[in-house]
Amino acid sequence: MSERRPLALIGFMGSGKSTVGRLVADAAGATHVDLDDLIEEREGMPITALFRARGEDAFRAIETELLSTALTAGHVVSLGGGAPLAENNWTVIRARATSVWLEAPLETVLERCDVPTRPLLQGRSEEELRRLFDSRLARYGEADHRIDATRDPGVVAEEVLHLWLG
Ligand code: S3P
Repeated sequence: MSERRPLALIGFMGSGKSTVGRLVADAAGATHVDLDDLIEEREGMPITALFRARGEDAFRAIETELLSTALTAGHVVSLGGGAPLAENNWTVIRARATSVWLEAPLETVLERCDVPTRPLLQGRSEEELRRLFDSRLARYGEADHRIDATRDPGVVAEEVLHLWLG
């Protein structure tokens, strides 16, 4: 496992990155790190509280700071939906990990999302959500692989595992 590049799961909020990441890591006997969990642990507060107290820019700075830690600590890393957007983050992800986009339409991810824990979804109109979603597709599309994430997480995890370990 240690000689393999870590697996970085990317995709919009609600695409199943945390669930699938845990399943893949369990099946492979690998370590799993969720970047949002790492941020919450380090800051001692939930992401929503961090956004409220310090704003999105501060959150993004911490996210960038802990990205490398996550890729060092985890064989499988579930990234926050916005983590691949910053160019410097994407450079690190490309250099160090095998990236997989968990792809699902906006309607599907919104159904799955727990909105109170997602500050970026709160108070947005449907049109604004669509714009946010669409604005991220080009970057997500640069991943090494993409997987149809509308299916059961167990099925998705099996496919991701196969892509990763062959
Ligand atoms: C964000 C996604 C969230 C979290 C933060 C910002 C984003 O993670 O990092 O609320 O910009 O898409 P999930 O994708 O795990 O919900």
